[in-house]
Amino acid sequence: MSAPAFSPVARAFAADALGTTLRLRGWVLRTRSSGGILFLVLRDHTGAVQVTARRDALGEAAFDAAEHVQIEGSVTVEGTVAEDRRAPDGREVRASRIDVVDSGEPFPIFTDQTEEFLLDKRHLAIRSQESVAIFRVKAQLLRAFRDFFDREDVLEMTPPILSGNAAEGGAEAFQFDYFGRPGYLSQTAQLYLEALLFPHERVYALTPSFRAEKSRTPRHLTEFLNLEVELAWCDFAGLLDFIERMFVDVLHSVAAHRPKELKALGRPPEELLAIEAPFERLRYAEAIERLAKLGFPVEFGSDLGTAEERALTLESKRPLFVTHYPRELKAFYMLQSRDDPRVVEASDLLGPEGYGEIVGASCRETEIARLEERIGQIGAKVDEYQWYLDLRRHGNVPHAGFGLGVERVMRWMLRREHIRDTTPFPRTPSRYTP
Ligand code: 4AD
Ligand code: MG
Repeated sequence: MSAPAFSPVARAFAADALGTTLRLRGWVLRTRSSGGILFLVLRDHTGAVQVTARRDALGEAAFDAAEHVQIEGSVTVEGTVAEDRRAPDGREVRASRIDVVDSGEPFPIFTDQTEEFLLDKRHLAIRSQESVAIFRVKAQLLRAFRDFFDREDVLEMTPPILSGNAAEGGAEAFQFDYFGRPGYLSQTAQLYLEALLFPHERVYALTPSFRAEKSRTPRHLTEFLNLEVELAWCDFAGLLDFIERMFVDVLHSVAAHRPKELKALGRPPEELLAIEAPFERLRYAEAIERLAKLGFPVEFGSDLGTAEERALTLESKRPLFVTHYPRELKAFYMLQSRDDPRVVEASDLLGPEGYGEIVGASCRETEIARLEERIGQIGAKVDEYQWYLDLRRHGNVPHAGFGLGVERVMRWMLRREHIRDTTPFPRTPSRYTP
């Protein structure tokens, strides 16, 4: 008879697992032995369980081999699930057999190492329980967005990453040699999504965006995941409503599906479940009045920096829409307000608790002359944007969209000090390996 199939480690905690014999496989979190008994904590992608083994049950050679497995060494185990009040989860597996797959070299990561060292060893550090929880939350967040878009009839698109245009203006684009001509890594998929909106009406893309900014801040990466949406026939109020609905939906979904991970990471799921519509909407002009009272004087026309965004949201538990920014502060494609030509119909959504911008949203300018004026002002060549201006020449309709920084949302959601914790291999001005 062939050996039974391997079970996930989490199977050991099932109600009907007590007394059954399981075959498990995975990696060693830690080992300890005393008085001829080996205690080995085994993990796989479903969880961790304590395995105990007696020298007399395993045999000398097997016991010695198991005892010498390093942290992160790999093993297979056969054993019986038993109750153990001292074990962290009340269960343990009493091994009748342990086979070492790779006993491993001494694992270089242990407690109290510097942040820099851990980043150098990122390819190994991502095995930590904390890292596992973070990326399980991230995967659920992405799934929740996709589920939401499915329900809202928004179609997923695959825009290019390599381009001959530097969409957001040029200054912060990574440039490279494209067969003798300048090429740029995408800073945004927006212009392509705008083109795709005419055949599909409601589109989104989840793609990396690249920014060659030397911003060494806890909220900037040079490569981040930009979740971008473009909606035909959408006005400003409709845009903010969509974003608000989407946020509440995905936060509740993450809270429902990953409560254990959220709790372990310091964000009780109840806090996400408590976030409901509506989110406050504050015009930029009102925001600077409020900031003056808080001791952050800002002149009309100056941008809100990290400190100002923090001051506006430090006390709030829900995200905040800041709307109607001065036109010169914002991207060339944003719709100039027809009521107040100084401002654009745009909004940044600021994360609560002082975390700052997590979404940039706007209605898109419809008039070619106004677009050409702004393209000139940012020092770009109108010629390079002719294909984009074509979209305004052939059945243009009112439309609006936004980009959401996935790692920015994660940083707030998981209360991380630094955004790099929320991506497996962070790219910053000082680091692009491993
Ligand atoms: O505000 P941004 O620059 O807007 C755009 O890219 C638009 N074209 C989006 C659109 O309307 N389709 O970037 C969108 C979001 C920001 O709100 C922020 O959350 C995040 O992307 N972001 C960054 N995240 C990490 N590191 C950086 N350097 C980021 N720059 C922007
Ligand atoms: Mg922005």
